Amino acid sequence: MSAVLTLLSAAEESTLALGRLLGRRLRPGQVVALYGDLGAGKTVLSRGIARGLGIQTAVTSPTFTVVQEYPCADGTFLFHLDLYRIADAAAALAFGIDEYLFAADGVTLVEWPERIPELLGHPGSRREALAIHLEHAADGARRLRLTARLADAVREDLRQAPVEGLAEISEES
Ligand SMILES: Nc1ncnc2c1ncn2[C@@H]1O[C@H](COP(=O)(O)OP(=O)(O)OP(=O)(O)O)[C@@H](O)[C@H]1O
Ligand SMILES: [Mg+2]
Repeated sequence: MSAVLTLLSAAEESTLALGRLLGRRLRPGQVVALYGDLGAGKTVLSRGIARGLGIQTAVTSPTFTVVQEYPCADGTFLFHLDLYRIADAAAALAFGIDEYLFAADGVTLVEWPERIPELLGHPGSRREALAIHLEHAADGARRLRLTARLADAVREDLRQAPVEGLAEISEES
């Protein structure tokens, strides 16, 4: 089956656990665009992904540095980008974003990909990406929508080992 997967995460811990699953599934050369408002949980999810990649060091938001690189044990990297303070595609290119969008030696996570639709994740953009959309939901929960290619892997993982506070919901809810 290959359809979008929508999950409701009841707590930060559940989003972290989802990230950990994703981190174990991601491979160098893949780019993941994390869409969502302030506080939606993009950095929390990124932290979980880092854990899943075996990274033990603290993962904080690279809002001011734009990018943070974390070495993995196997010699590859996690590149964590936060484009919040980047105005547009021209500014991103000037900053050297191509190095990360086309990095073969690491997984690249991009917070605020909304800043650069011409470059990332939109039809006809320079680089395709796996997409995750995060939204605030009722009672402090978060809704996370995973692109079909990630959905299958995560669905399988959750079937094998359910995560507390993480439930699949139908698209309309
Ligand atoms: N279910 C949940 N999943 C993730 N975070 C949650 C959840 N419930 C509450 N939170 C809280 O929401 C906040 C999410 O912050 P985070 O820095 O991850 O957001 P962000 O999307 O990266 O925002 P920004 O756009 O500022 O970078 C954290 O303080 C976290 O504790
Ligand atoms: Mg963030």
